[in-house]
Amino acid sequence: MDERMMDDTLMNMEEAKTELSLRPTLLHQYIGQNKLKNNLDVFIQAAKLRNEALDHVLLYGPPGLGKTTLANIIANELDVNIRTTSGPSIERPGDLAAILSSLNAGDVLFIDEIHRLSRVVEEILYPAMEDFCLDIVVGKGEEARSIRIDLPPFTLVGATTRAGNLSAPLRDRFGVHLRLDYYDDKDLMEIITRTAAVFEIDIDADSAAEIAGRSRGTPRIANRLLRRVRDFAQVIGDDYIEVSTTTRSLDMLQVDKHGLDHIDRKIMVNIIERYNGGPVGLDTIAVSVGEERVTIEDVYEPFLIQKGFLERTTRGRQATMHAYEHFNYPYSNEKRK
Ligand SMILES: Nc1ncnc2c1ncn2[C@@H]1O[C@H](COP(=O)(O)OP(=O)(O)OP(=O)(O)O)[C@@H](O)[C@H]1O
Ligand SMILES: [Mg+2]
Repeated sequence: MDERMMDDTLMNMEEAKTELSLRPTLLHQYIGQNKLKNNLDVFIQAAKLRNEALDHVLLYGPPGLGKTTLANIIANELDVNIRTTSGPSIERPGDLAAILSSLNAGDVLFIDEIHRLSRVVEEILYPAMEDFCLDIVVGKGEEARSIRIDLPPFTLVGATTRAGNLSAPLRDRFGVHLRLDYYDDKDLMEIITRTAAVFEIDIDADSAAEIAGRSRGTPRIANRLLRRVRDFAQVIGDDYIEVSTTTRSLDMLQVDKHGLDHIDRKIMVNIIERYNGGPVGLDTIAVSVGEERVTIEDVYEPFLIQKGFLERTTRGRQATMHAYEHFNYPYSNEKRK
């Protein structure tokens, strides 16, 4: 597990507490993702006008872009309760049946990492999503019969980093599909400034821009880098963040101008040096850099593709000319070998 993932999972108490206060609770406080926000706003208003449960919502996109935050905002805007669970934590069909039958009309059921639901559990969801009912088999053998239990209308909000791993029947039962994109620097600066205000520390615009540029388009990373820069500022006795402190601390954290860290660099340098720029399979890359395949697929690859360093071809992953330039390798010579 790399440092970034570690940071995310081993959030200390202080971070867990601030995480709560950092989460916007209303749609208009949610920064960026404007198209998504406008659409969602219409769907929420319409559901409220009709006094109906909002259609089921699927949120997908890379980690740390604000899926969990949005799920909570949806419930809050609808003024209903939210019940939060996750794919891997629902082990048996009975667990899901119990959760479903405890919902009130209009409630939001949030299932994080929904691509990790087991097949048998998923099958309970189909009639629940489509007809708001549970089909339960009682008795055994010849005595066995299926009974149907009605559920109150509810909204399922599912979140996943990998929509492609969702089974088609499940995916099709979501009426609203919302894809989260990486944030631009302007939005990230706004998020950083807002977070600094929550931390009650001043930050100048240049510093916010510097952090934004190195945050991989990801609010969670922006907030984390800000915390670290704040540490540096406080240790040298400053109660504000200025740009020289910011660049110095970010350099010490080994996050470059593009937000690339040592794993990104290792991936690209490996593809270029060992595999002549590719194409090379994801499993091979994973082994050669000593990372899990899923981490590369969810965290590193989407960003490297977005930055134009990596291309996905039918035969594998390939380094682009841009990557050769950025990592200082001669492109044409290399390719002529
Ligand atoms: N649009 C936004 N405006 C302000 N803050 C945001 C926004 N999106 C995310 N954040 C902040 O970024 C952090 C990560 O967001 P969140 O936990 O919702 O991401 P996620 O997509 O659920 O990630 P994962 O896939 O890892 O579960 C939170 O602290 C949240 O406050
Ligand atoms: Mg989440």
